[in-house]
Amino acid sequence: MLRLPTAGTPYRPAEVSRAILGLFESKTVIQVFQEQLKKYLTVKNLALVNSGTTACYLLLEFFKKIRADSLRDEVILPAYTAPSLLLPIRAANLRPVLVDIDLQTFNLAIDQVSDAITSRTLAIMPVHMFGLPCEVEPLIRLTEAEDIFLFEDAASSLGTRLHGKMSGTVAPFGFYSLNRGKNISTLAGGIITWRDTHYNEIMDKLVKALSPVGFVAQKIITLKIIGLSLAVKPLFYTLLTPLIAKYKYTTLHTHFESFAYTPTQAALGKALWRSANVLTMRRIINGKILLNIFGNRADFIVPLVKPEWEVAFNQFPLIVKDLSLRAEIQRRLLAAGIETSLLYERPLHHIFPELNPTGSEPFPQATYLAEHLLLIPTHAQVRQSHLAIIQDIIDSLC
Ligand SMILES: Cc1ncc(COP(=O)(O)O)c(C=O)c1O
Repeated sequence: MLRLPTAGTPYRPAEVSRAILGLFESKTVIQVFQEQLKKYLTVKNLALVNSGTTACYLLLEFFKKIRADSLRDEVILPAYTAPSLLLPIRAANLRPVLVDIDLQTFNLAIDQVSDAITSRTLAIMPVHMFGLPCEVEPLIRLTEAEDIFLFEDAASSLGTRLHGKMSGTVAPFGFYSLNRGKNISTLAGGIITWRDTHYNEIMDKLVKALSPVGFVAQKIITLKIIGLSLAVKPLFYTLLTPLIAKYKYTTLHTHFESFAYTPTQAALGKALWRSANVLTMRRIINGKILLNIFGNRADFIVPLVKPEWEVAFNQFPLIVKDLSLRAEIQRRLLAAGIETSLLYERPLHHIFPELNPTGSEPFPQATYLAEHLLLIPTHAQVRQSHLAIIQDIIDSLC
């Protein structure tokens, strides 16, 4: 039986050929892709870098450069999110300050943010986890008054809209990831956006200071793109599961490298973006169907999805109250060829005990989410037949 991977952007042969030809293109193709992304996101200012982590790091470095008060060195973020986010915060010599999440939205508990703000708060980073939008508007009001930078981590939510606006473009700053598990991927990559054109010069300097990628390294990137185009296809994925497993992130990242985005990735992105709306729509529709399957059942908590949101689910998150039921769902779905994931099984303050010196449980909702989460794939290769299998399994178990 064919296995469906948990995540992955399917590439067409024509798109892979573009990436190969991109090896021989100049940096202009990056500018062309940037213009395409600006239109897609409806933003004026944007830059491409090698990863979402670098995008986050450069934004933090930028905030440091223009902060009014050099004593401000704290960054507020949710207690349940990607552990790798601590790397750019620490690399910028800043201190993470955690806030609990909300079990209704699965995102930052907005009403608890003001308690975490101090005279040392430099920035607040709401994260749109799993593609689910975090309501940023109330934070805009809070930060404007306090002279604090607000930047959205939209790494997993490319294509999600809240109140008609793209996630990542509501606050004055934002960033996205184009890494391989993300909503649309160019193997790796990061997008930085900022609203105020006055900042262009400083941002340009920060981005231009990144080392360019040499021809040999670009060739390796192109080979990886070819490999990825095969690996996400259920046939190859099934045949090569043990080999592909080696390339999955299973351990915590301990460092990151920053360098420039490459023409080969931009050439791929440029071709891929023609299907961006279709790829996004599939995530939105699959997410809605999963919401119907899992919603209104006592065994699960599904996230709130407001009618005015369009949620491009990166994966569909749900809380399974009973852990033995969660294990059984995972087992049955896998037997039917559908892989699921538990993502980060611990919140940040458990992974990094130094963030919780008292040893008590300061962020219980984040811990509960981490320990009960199950993620169902929503990407463009999830078909009606997969969703029907999921429905049958859940009907038989619950
Ligand atoms: C929420 C979130 N932010 C940031 C990142 C970092 O992005 P990248 O992998 O492109 O460095 C990730 C990646 O897993 C993420 O999930």
